[in-house]
Amino acid sequence: MNKTEYLFQPIKIGNKVSENRIAINAMECCDADNEGNPGEKTYRRYSKHFEGGSGVVVLEAITVGYESRSRKMQLSIMPRNEKALAKFVKEMKSINPKTIFLFQLTHSGEISHPDFSKRVTVKPLPGFGGELLSEETLEKIMDDFVTSAKIAHAVGADGIDMKLCHGYLGSQILRPYNDRKWKFGGSWENRTRFAYTIYERLQKEINDPNFLIGSKISVWEGFPGGCGSAGPDSALMDISESLDLVKNLEARGADYILVSAGCPSITLALSQPDKKIPDDVYLHFTFQKAVKSVLKPETVVIGSAYSVLNNGNNNLQAVKKEEASIRFWGNKNIKDGVTDMIAIGRQSLADSSMAAKMKENREAEINWCTACDQCIELLIRQKNVGCCTYDKEYVEALRKIRREEGLLKAKRT
Ligand SMILES: Cc1cc2nc3c(=O)[nH]c(=O)nc-3n(C[C@H](O)[C@H](O)[C@H](O)COP(=O)(O)O)c2cc1C
Ligand code: SF4
Repeated sequence: MNKTEYLFQPIKIGNKVSENRIAINAMECCDADNEGNPGEKTYRRYSKHFEGGSGVVVLEAITVGYESRSRKMQLSIMPRNEKALAKFVKEMKSINPKTIFLFQLTHSGEISHPDFSKRVTVKPLPGFGGELLSEETLEKIMDDFVTSAKIAHAVGADGIDMKLCHGYLGSQILRPYNDRKWKFGGSWENRTRFAYTIYERLQKEINDPNFLIGSKISVWEGFPGGCGSAGPDSALMDISESLDLVKNLEARGADYILVSAGCPSITLALSQPDKKIPDDVYLHFTFQKAVKSVLKPETVVIGSAYSVLNNGNNNLQAVKKEEASIRFWGNKNIKDGVTDMIAIGRQSLADSSMAAKMKENREAEINWCTACDQCIELLIRQKNVGCCTYDKEYVEALRKIRREEGLLKAKRT
């Protein structure tokens, strides 16, 4: 490591210190047990993350209510899970007590899976929908978020990420599309009530200056009426609401903002630029810079969508290969004030130890994510998720699925 390398400088997040500028992004992998507690594979994955040298690990989307799951084997955080989560945190912290561990709290709303959950909506989107949420039910969900945050605090997590991104309930409410006339829709004041009230309650009811609070947000979702669009029927980009949102979260105690974009069920390549068209990574940089420019210097900005850059072996055009990598852009963006930290999502599945290996200049040993998105094929089929390029178990799992689906197709024709 070069001594002045930005990626490996520590940074304060609230009252905690991250040893470096690399975070592992939330990555749900559908391997909890039937109660929503961490299963054997969950333990295996996070043990590797804690061994891998990243300063921050964000626990994947963990549901605040069992009825709101988008994945059958999703982790949950309800009173009944408290004991199991305490054991899990203790074991992870025994691997590396310095790693900051954040829990991403979520409710899936209209992308809850109707086969095993209850699909609810603030205003039905074509192709999604569900039962229209009443004000009373939404208030009950707000209670669930607060209860879950208290559990995260009690079990020893370092903080929470209140999920406001990627088309889950937190972002469904914020969208201009939510122009329904109710306490949580229409005006910007109404659409932000859910997020702001939860933040205000967390400040009062947890009231621990060492417990971090922040949110991952989708600055622009890229479809008509999505977050960061100019109106309920417009796909045009207008990120003024998203910038106002982060300033107001900061005013209500946000220690960090994790910047994302897109809604994977609708605009997947925007939230995770893929190997064929990696260019949206530049849009992410633009959003990170815009968010950073409106926040105080002490509020940490964490940028996402870096995996597609890998070691520069990507399809970005008009850049030199050695200036197209995660390492190059991570350092450059921190140096230029675009972001304070970078988060890796798919790269963490391909190789949890990227940070440690990079720091020790063992780059040749890193399994670089190819942004092939085969892992997503497992996720959308509700299977245990892992890297289908480097991890034999998941390579074989995907092969088996494709074989079976091929046979089915052949039978039908
Ligand atoms: C298998 C898989 C699971 C994911 N699970 C989550 C999740 O639980 N919460 C979340 O906010 N984003 C989730 N994401 C999105 C990533 O955290 C990240 O935002 C996205 O992949 C872009 O970053 P990357 O280019 O580093 O992969 C998931 C992505 C994948 C591929
Ligand atoms: S399957 Fe592996 S290499 Fe492909 S995108 Fe997922 S993590 Fe990256």
